[in-house]
Amino acid sequence: MQSVEKTRASIGEGIAADALAGLLSPRKSLPPKLFYDEAGCVLFGEITRLPEYYLTRTEREILVSLAPELDGFVARRSSLVEYGASDEAKAALLFAPLDIAGYVPIDIAADALASLKARMAQAFPAIRVHPILADFLDPITLPRDVLGTPRLGFFPGSTIGNLDPPAAIGFLRRVRATLGEGATFLVGADLEKPTDLLLAAYDDAAGVTAAFNRNILARLNREAEADFDIEAFAHRAVWNPAEHRIEMHLESRCDQIVHVAGKRIIFRRGETIHTENSHKFTEPRLMALAMRAGWRVSRIWTDPQKLFAVAALQ
Ligand code: AVJ
Repeated sequence: MQSVEKTRASIGEGIAADALAGLLSPRKSLPPKLFYDEAGCVLFGEITRLPEYYLTRTEREILVSLAPELDGFVARRSSLVEYGASDEAKAALLFAPLDIAGYVPIDIAADALASLKARMAQAFPAIRVHPILADFLDPITLPRDVLGTPRLGFFPGSTIGNLDPPAAIGFLRRVRATLGEGATFLVGADLEKPTDLLLAAYDDAAGVTAAFNRNILARLNREAEADFDIEAFAHRAVWNPAEHRIEMHLESRCDQIVHVAGKRIIFRRGETIHTENSHKFTEPRLMALAMRAGWRVSRIWTDPQKLFAVAALQ
């Protein structure tokens, strides 16, 4: 019991420290990883089924059609290492076509990893599963028996879009070092498209994305001794053309003071907390990014409408 409480307390401190680092800076921000507590994971799951959020279903279509073609890139009996794997739904599209031998889901959500492991034991008992509880940006050490098989890295969902280009390059370099010689890395990336379609995907009619964005404040109230009035912040999604990204913000509807872990945070009316960047790519920019990280781009698959891309890096 004691150690469980200790763990909870130190997780809470980590969240408060992460939150304060952003909230005490002159341009307020919160790290997007704070979205994904239990409630946030449920809301994100709802986002992926929204009519406006084309990303998930389009990437799934691409994965289904590319899986049989991956034979030339990926050795049979490889291990699949997934960065930010809250569930196995996308990886499962590759298990049978590639005859995957091992699966290494890396995620910060302990509950999600535990239920993933239980489902895998039922649905894919022949695949060895080694969950790693970590931020995918942290240095990762692969288990020994995974290093004894060929490696296929997997980073779906356009999560790479959360990183600004220098951070994305740093991440791609570290993955190259982690996966080692001869590995392939499959990366999903959302493509630039007309602004109205992008904005709708991040500001849906049903308000699910707004609830997802505001949940970050509710989470700080629950876990970081914060007293945010959730209704006093409005969801904003904006397209930043210079940086090729959708930004999510929470805009203070009035002048107000909020407390977080014993610190006072002053908001002026109209001031925002920047909660997420979601970079959008063109094929050339995606290729340039991968190349600057030392990868060779073997192939890029897209859907017929060119909404989304999946790149094979080697
Ligand atoms: C999981 C980071 C890829 O940027 O589209 C969905 C998260 N934010 N709606 C994205 C998200 C708002 C999503 N990623």
